Amino acid sequence: MHAHEAGWAHAEGARGPSWLRLPSDVNHLEPLLWSSTARKNAVGALEVGGVDLRDLVAEHGSPAYVLDEADFRSRARAFREAFEDYDVYYAGKAFLCTTVARWVAQEGLSLDVCSPGELTVALRAGFDPRRIGHHGNNKSTPELRAAVEAGVGRIVVDSFQEIDRLTEVTRETGRTACVMVRVTAGVEAHTHEYIATAHEDQKFGFSISSGDALEAVRRVQQAAGLELLGLHSHIGSQIFDTSGFEVAARRVLTLHAQVSRELGVTMPELDLGGGFGIAYTTQDDPSDPAQLATELTKIVEHECRALDVPVPSLSIEPGRAIVGPSMCTVYEVGTVKEVGLDAGASRTYVSVDGGMSDNIRTALYDADYSCTIASRRSDAVPVLGRVVGKHCEAGDIVVKDEFVPGDIAPGDLLAVAGTGAYCRSMASNYNHVLRPPVVAVSEGASTVVVRRETEEDLLRTDVGA
Ligand code: LLP
Repeated sequence: MHAHEAGWAHAEGARGPSWLRLPSDVNHLEPLLWSSTARKNAVGALEVGGVDLRDLVAEHGSPAYVLDEADFRSRARAFREAFEDYDVYYAGKAFLCTTVARWVAQEGLSLDVCSPGELTVALRAGFDPRRIGHHGNNKSTPELRAAVEAGVGRIVVDSFQEIDRLTEVTRETGRTACVMVRVTAGVEAHTHEYIATAHEDQKFGFSISSGDALEAVRRVQQAAGLELLGLHSHIGSQIFDTSGFEVAARRVLTLHAQVSRELGVTMPELDLGGGFGIAYTTQDDPSDPAQLATELTKIVEHECRALDVPVPSLSIEPGRAIVGPSMCTVYEVGTVKEVGLDAGASRTYVSVDGGMSDNIRTALYDADYSCTIASRRSDAVPVLGRVVGKHCEAGDIVVKDEFVPGDIAPGDLLAVAGTGAYCRSMASNYNHVLRPPVVAVSEGASTVVVRRETEEDLLRTDVGA
């Protein structure tokens, strides 16, 4: 590709993308995008959990992830209540720390972990191991041994090698492992390619169509030390349309029925995975847990009736839909730059004191976010803005398109909505930037649940330092 003069193809004009609406009031908070206790106060500052973010930043510094405890708990509870006959596993990969693991336990949910690190956090929080499910497509023998010895309630196997390893671990330890078999249903979920997981050409699960899934079930069933619980299907993440779940459920339940017919085994459980989408911008229209529960249950009951098999015990694994909207990230604006686009249009680049190290999703998945000024009310005309970080990379974008107040200036605070899922959990130390703290807010009080990193933390692993 040759270098060329950047022209019209790089600019969308002063309106931004077609879905972006010019706000009638740039201070307005769109309720769907923010946690339930978020509001603007009399001077226009953003309050979450009764805490003015100006005070939060004064006390804890900037940037910071702000976790709305009441919102998190109520989303967790909403899933548990809507899916009352299901086991609801909170997917810890979205965000996990010991405090959140305890909230999850208190709200009556189970927990899905996918690495020894997540398992350690869960156990350190005192989470009942029997209510933990362990995922991962490449679990090593020591990892499997740790999970079995901890008494993890279910291990989701993902390869023939893993079935062999786990069988060996149960033989060595004299324990039994309860197992689910991760299958790929061959469904193309309409989401970003990197977060779609049930089509055939990717690394997860046993393919149903190739016969591997049936063979895996047969091997688990025959292995001494393994107790077969059922099939597990997760079709991807940030999905809005239940038709993907419907096709997957049909294929997975067809296999479930085939196992019962051909192997004479009625598997007691079935996990439908997570992946329920949330609103990052006004273009997203997520379903609430009650709607999801009604639709998923209808799909499964219908398929089970058609296949003449009893409905197994069901479980789901929402991560994003619980923690995603519960957090926002507050940043301080450092510089503001107006950049000319075509036809006299311009874009205001707002540089904040974080970036792709605390939110990689924009760069990695082309994700959209929304933000608001958090420290004051502005009466200025909204301008097309782009919120960027402080990393040495042009792709270091936090919010690609948003209208920001025309008078936005260094020192203002900006808050980005919906950063609870896969932001802190995917954060890095790129450019040796320190990862921000997670500050929980509730009823006017703020509590650090994950502290800000220090340069000492960075140097701790540098053996030459
Ligand atoms: N269960 C399994 C087996 C999973 O692999 C995942 C997510 C979940 C449940 C939870 O999915 P959720 O409800 O949170 O969508 N980093 C990407 C998302 C990767 C999802 C990985 N697996 C992102 O930032 O969009």
